[in-house]
Amino acid sequence: MRLVHTVAEVRREVAAWRAKGESVAFVATMGNLHSGHLDLVAEARAKADRVVASIFVNPLQFGPNEDFDRYPRTLPDDCAKLDPAGCDLVFAPSVDEMYPRGRNNIAQVSVPGISKLLEGEFRPGFFEGVATVVSILFHIVQPDFALFGRKDYQQFLVVRRMVAELHMPLQIVGVPTRREPDGLAMSSRNQYLDPHERSLAPGLYRALSAVAQRLRSGSRDFQGLEEEARRVLEHQGFKPQYLVIRDADDLGAPRADASAWVLLVAAHLGRTRLIDNLEISL
Ligand code: PAF
Repeated sequence: MRLVHTVAEVRREVAAWRAKGESVAFVATMGNLHSGHLDLVAEARAKADRVVASIFVNPLQFGPNEDFDRYPRTLPDDCAKLDPAGCDLVFAPSVDEMYPRGRNNIAQVSVPGISKLLEGEFRPGFFEGVATVVSILFHIVQPDFALFGRKDYQQFLVVRRMVAELHMPLQIVGVPTRREPDGLAMSSRNQYLDPHERSLAPGLYRALSAVAQRLRSGSRDFQGLEEEARRVLEHQGFKPQYLVIRDADDLGAPRADASAWVLLVAAHLGRTRLIDNLEISL
């Protein structure tokens, strides 16, 4: 596995593979890797001859009061995980390499509508930051496949729409969420939880599972189910920002006659903001 820091090095390496007719799969990350990321690499390995992973803590997608400065940067540890997982090339650029004219002075990509809902409402500018960096990375790496975790379900939908509408020539693959044995979705932010918060955190997945159970047994009282689940979370010490049942394709209002929905939640536990989701198809 090679570690490179410049666009030129990525282009050279990928061009050499392309000259041999090899296909390329890509995993974009912000580092601080856990088993969920390694699932993406494993899926990438299964899809293509070569695997590229990027590690870049993208300032564009952090709001002014978010954790950009304290976001863990663990490049040597990340590389030690990516190598045995079958990654061929790690691209870990500096902010200057990615945004040479400064982060406030670059062409931006935005996906209207869906980017303003849910996460977009609570984190203004977040999806513009994600869509911009992901499209820059796609243009640098030019992969055949890019793998995204369904843990960030709305992000997955935003990227999928961006790729479809801008006719970017690659396929987006969504990989199921990896969970701890107690149900907590793996996330780099879980390490911010203190032991007490960590013991409460699986309540998020339990709340989603309880709603899923009710939908499966025929309830279509969407609003009642959402309100009840939010109350349960509050009772357990969470501060929910949203807990909603939405259409699985566009995150619009759920239809009672649909057969696929997604439940999405964001909640604070102490200072840590957690998100999770559960896809349901009948
Ligand atoms: O999901 C993430 O870690 C980031 O949003 C991504 C896709 C790497 C873009 O910075």
